[in-house]
Amino acid sequence: MFFKKIKNEENYIEFKNIINDIRFNEKVREMNNYMQHSATSCYSHCLHVAYYTYLMCKKLNLDYVSAARAAMLHDFFLYDWHEPRHIKSLKELHAFSHPKIALKNALQFFDLNAMEQDIIVKHMWPLTIKLPKYKETYIVTLADKYCATVEFFKYLTARYRLRMIYRYAYIFLTIILVRF
Ligand SMILES: [Fe+2]
Ligand SMILES: [Fe+2]
Repeated sequence: MFFKKIKNEENYIEFKNIINDIRFNEKVREMNNYMQHSATSCYSHCLHVAYYTYLMCKKLNLDYVSAARAAMLHDFFLYDWHEPRHIKSLKELHAFSHPKIALKNALQFFDLNAMEQDIIVKHMWPLTIKLPKYKETYIVTLADKYCATVEFFKYLTARYRLRMIYRYAYIFLTIILVRF
């Protein structure tokens, strides 16, 4: 996991308590069935974003409870966005449409305050043009982009390592076969 080294800290326990009802919700857990960035599921990605949001908002004396809860739901869209879909306009592109879908899904299961709704529906800013209303929304947009970048590079590093392992195994086997 992304933050396994800091998992036992007091902050992590508080964070988990803040999002407990969300992370154990059956529908939310369905995000585990869909990949977000490279090898990271939507669920793990939301958890990463929520934790970094929590840490940053707490440090800045912002509403870290609402921010973390909304961040946990920011990509609650429940479909494989990698699969080609027939779209009629730019608005229907995943990048533009999924914040609204996530908000609609989230409202079916949770009572969300104005800030939480703003965070979910505007987390793709500046791609979606409407300006966020709250500082916390800006924090989530930052945490989202940061986590997406780290998840992508972690995946690339893992793939590179695997390729190196195969290469060394191939060389090793070739040497063995040539010698015997
Ligand atoms: Fe998103
Ligand atoms: Fe995201």
